[in-house]
Amino acid sequence: MTLEIMTTESIHETVRDHYAAAALVAAQGDCACSNPETIGSQLYSALERDELPDAAVLASLGCGNPTAVADLHPGERVLDLGSGGGIDVLLSARRVGPTGRAFGLDMTDEMLALAQRNAAEAGATNVEFLKGHIEAIPLPAASVDVVISNCVVNLAADKTAVFREIARVLRPGGRIGITDIVAEDGLSPAQRAERGSFAGCIAGALSMTEFRIGLESVGLANIRLTPTHTVVEGMVSAIIQATKPVGSLPLIDLSAPDPAGTQLGCCGGDGCC
Ligand SMILES: C[S@@+](CC[C@H](N)C(=O)[O-])C[C@H]1O[C@@H](n2cnc3c(N)ncnc32)[C@H](O)[C@@H]1O
Repeated sequence: MTLEIMTTESIHETVRDHYAAAALVAAQGDCACSNPETIGSQLYSALERDELPDAAVLASLGCGNPTAVADLHPGERVLDLGSGGGIDVLLSARRVGPTGRAFGLDMTDEMLALAQRNAAEAGATNVEFLKGHIEAIPLPAASVDVVISNCVVNLAADKTAVFREIARVLRPGGRIGITDIVAEDGLSPAQRAERGSFAGCIAGALSMTEFRIGLESVGLANIRLTPTHTVVEGMVSAIIQATKPVGSLPLIDLSAPDPAGTQLGCCGGDGCC
């Protein structure tokens, strides 16, 4: 399938089929990862792997270790976008403790079932797995302290919606700690697609600058992209950090219909600033 003819629905279907199969492999006790040097549980410390059920480790399909960069504290609410078998949710749950909460969001039933089993085996009680798309997060505005994600933004059908949703659910002063595959600036979408498939986390990857602009455009600040290791030629895994400024106003979606028929100005009032 070429990038040109992929719709949101076909991307979700292709990606879901791919990760449903991976979840079943991990549930049977085999490693779901095809490239263990650059993707998967080797990117975690032995100590972290020992904390977790085997199936959560075997289902690890991330390109980094977002909990290591998110600097989680007891009592915080964390959301993991594309939580898969639950590895980062379970690690987060330990860091935020009984007064905190770790949410995992995923669209694939088989991954959600595996994550629930892993959470039960780990005895985690402060976790919640939600079914849905990261392009439309089923949580209220300003409801989480930290958004993490491990190798999933590249799989999203609508990256603009993902960035908008991250900014919406973060509380002012909240932060992101994401790991994802990104392309060097200058690598065209066609060149990215030559290097790997969409479901394989390559063809849909943003460039460094595209990722930065996406975060800036929704008002996030202190944006840092730090490459960690090469995944394929011209494409790296990177740590992406940013914060939502304390004084930031809620985002207004100017493309959304106005149910009350009120004409809002560009600052949310009835005039323009
Ligand atoms: C590469 S795996 C990573 C899983 C997990 N983060 C980890 O590190 O093991 C991608 C996961 O994201 C989920 N996913 C991909 N696109 C998604 C979307 N648009 N909305 C929700 N979940 C998505 C898949 O179902 C899959 O479980």
